[in-house]
Amino acid sequence: MIASLAATPIMEVRNIRKSFAGNPVLRDVSFEIRPGEVHALVGENGAGKSTLMNVMTGNHHSDAGEIVLAGKTIRLSDPKSAAELGIGIVHQELSLAPNMTVAENIYSGREPTTFLGFINKRRMRARAREVFSRIGLDINPDAKAGSLSVAWQQMVEIAKALSLNAKVLIMDEPTSALSGAEIEHLYAIIRGLRDNGVGIVYISHKLGEVFEIADRVSVLRDGQLVRTLPVPETNPDEIIRLMVGRDIKDLYPPKASRLGEVIFKVEGLTLPGKVDDVSFELREGEILGFAGLVGSGRTETARAVFGAERPAKGRITLRDREVVIRGPGDAIRQGICYLSEDRKGFGLFLTMSVRGNIASSSLPAYSSSLQFLDFNRVREASRELLDTLDIRPRNDSLNIINLSGGNQQKTMLAKWLAAKPTILIADEPTRGVDIGAKVKIHQHLRRFAESGVGVIVISSELPEVLGLSDRVVVFRNGSVSADLRNDNLTQTEVMHYAAN
Ligand SMILES: Nc1ncnc2c1ncn2[C@@H]1O[C@H](COP(=O)(O)OP(=O)(O)OP(=O)(O)O)[C@@H](O)[C@H]1O
Ligand SMILES: [Mg+2]
Repeated sequence: MIASLAATPIMEVRNIRKSFAGNPVLRDVSFEIRPGEVHALVGENGAGKSTLMNVMTGNHHSDAGEIVLAGKTIRLSDPKSAAELGIGIVHQELSLAPNMTVAENIYSGREPTTFLGFINKRRMRARAREVFSRIGLDINPDAKAGSLSVAWQQMVEIAKALSLNAKVLIMDEPTSALSGAEIEHLYAIIRGLRDNGVGIVYISHKLGEVFEIADRVSVLRDGQLVRTLPVPETNPDEIIRLMVGRDIKDLYPPKASRLGEVIFKVEGLTLPGKVDDVSFELREGEILGFAGLVGSGRTETARAVFGAERPAKGRITLRDREVVIRGPGDAIRQGICYLSEDRKGFGLFLTMSVRGNIASSSLPAYSSSLQFLDFNRVREASRELLDTLDIRPRNDSLNIINLSGGNQQKTMLAKWLAAKPTILIADEPTRGVDIGAKVKIHQHLRRFAESGVGVIVISSELPEVLGLSDRVVVFRNGSVSADLRNDNLTQTEVMHYAAN
C-alpha cells in the first residue's frame, strides 16, 4: 500500500507563516505530500487546515515560508497558476456558480475553443461527460449547477478537480455532504488516483475515514503541525489526543428518560416527484432521527415542513392544532425552525456579523414593545451563545465569512437556539464540526429535547442518527420505508430499509 514511503515529496511547504489582522493562524508549518499517498490532515475547527491548503493553491499568500513542487521552489500568484501546475483542490465550501451549467463550471476559465476561438460547447459537454463517466456518475452537463443537490454539487466539484489531471489533489472535507454509497464511490476514485501516483491531501473530521483511506496523517493544532504519523502506527484515540489535548469518551448523550405527548404530527405530506405520502409523529422529549440515502427525501420533507417548498398535500399538526405553513418566515413565527444542510445557500447571511446572524431569526424577541431593537440584549444573548457553543474566536462582531467552516456551522445552530423554537429540524447539524464541538452539539440537542422542544435530526452519518435518536424514520425513494424504535438498532437494520 505505501510503496512510496521513501519517495521524495511531490509537494512540500516549509516554515509557512500566516496571520489575519495580526492573529497568527499558521505558525511555521512544514508539511509534505509524496506521490501515491493519501495524506490526511486533521485538527479542530479553526486549527488552520483550510488556510494551509489555500496557501498551497495560491488562494492566500503566506507571510513567510517556502513552497516546493517536485524539488523546485515556486511562487503561486493565484489559484489559476496552481491549477496550471497540476495542483487541484476541492474546496470545503461549495464554490460553483449556481446559474452556470455543470460543464461551464467545470471548464470555467479554460473552456475548449473552436478553430475561430469561440467556446466549443459540444466539446466541453463531451469532456464533462467523460470526466463523469471516469468517476461512474451520470450527471447532465447542461443542468444548472444551482439546481443540483448539495451532494451532487460536491461531486461536480470533485469532477472539476479531476479534470485538471492534477498531480496533487487536495480535498477539504469532501464527504461532508455525501453518504454511504457516494463515499464508497469517492474512495474508489481516490484509490485509483493514488495508484496512478497522484499525491492526495484528505481533510476530514471523520476519523473513521482517515483510518480507512489514508496512508499518513498529520495533526494541526492552533496553527502548528504537531505530528505526522503513518496510519498503521497510530489509532483514533491517539489522534484525538493530539488534536484536542484530552480524551473524549462519550460521543453521544444518554437517550430520552421519558417521552411525553405527541407534539408534532405530519400526515400524508406529498411533494410531487420528491416526497410521497410521508407521515410521522414526534413526542415531547424525543429526538427523532431521519435516515436514508442522499436524495431519499429526508431534506425535501424537512424543507416542505418548513415552508421552503410548497407541498401539494399534507397535514401538519403542532400541539393539537392544525397549522398551515406559508413560508419559512411563517414557520419561524409558529415555532418551527430548520437548520439547513446548506449553510451557504440557505441559512447564513454571509455579509453579516456573527451577532447579526444569531439575532436574525429572533429579532422580535429582542425588540421592546415599541419595536426598537434592544442592542444590549442582542449582544448579551449572542455572547452567551458563543460561550455555550464554543464558537471561536469569541468575537461576535466578526464577519461570518472569516470564520472557519466548523465555526460557521456552530453559528448557524446558535441562531436557531436563540429563536427558542417548538420544533427544531437539524439537517446535518455537525457537518464539518470537530469532534469536541460535536459532543457539545449532541449534548445541546438532547438538552433541548429534555426542555420540551421537539428535535428532528437528519444526518448522513448513520452512527450519529443511531447515537442520538430515540426513534428512527427511514426514507427510501421519497417515502417512509420504516419507523423504528431505537432499542439498540443496528446500522445493518437501518441500511436494509434505506437501500434501493
Ligand atoms: N480571510 C480570513 N480573515 C480573517 N480570519 C480568517 C480568514 N480565514 C480564516 N481565518 C481564521 O483563521 C483561523 C483558521 O481557519 P481555517 O479555516 O484555516 O480553519 P480550519 O482548520 O480549516 O477549520 P474547520 O475545521 O472549521 O474548517 C480561524 O480562526 C479563522 O477564523
Ligand atoms: Mg476548514
